[in-house]
Amino acid sequence: MKKIFISSDHAGYKLKELIKLYLDKKKILFTDLGPENDTKVDYPDYAHNVANKVKINNNHVGILVCGTGTGMNITANKHKNIRAAQCFNLKSTKLSRLHNDANIITLGSRLLTKKNALNFVSVFLKTKFEGGRHSKRIKKI
Ligand code: RB5
Repeated sequence: MKKIFISSDHAGYKLKELIKLYLDKKKILFTDLGPENDTKVDYPDYAHNVANKVKINNNHVGILVCGTGTGMNITANKHKNIRAAQCFNLKSTKLSRLHNDANIITLGSRLLTKKNALNFVSVFLKTKFEGGRHSKRIKKI
């Protein structure tokens, strides 16, 4: 079964909470791996937690939010079988699923509008991997 894990650091906390509201509204189940408030924390701790959950099952996906999306992305991509995509627009979001079978989306709360961020989450969760020629490339990562 598809499972969604979401987490942030302090800079991404507010956007994480908004994404949770959005998922609730859409009746999409998720697991929040913290933090529970916007007290300063270190993004790698949260990126590792989500990556550790996502990498054990092909159906698991993650949503990570920090100020830029970059720290979360760099950290998550240190894990084997994690393909984290830092998404800036609809096209990069969609292609990260279609071509790269990305299993984590990382978002920059300080760089994106709320509306765009929610839209990217929606597209990321809906878009299916194209497979075909892209499968052999993914095996080479
Ligand atoms: C925190 O100030 C900030 O560095 C962090 O949220 C993130 O942008 C790191 O990549």
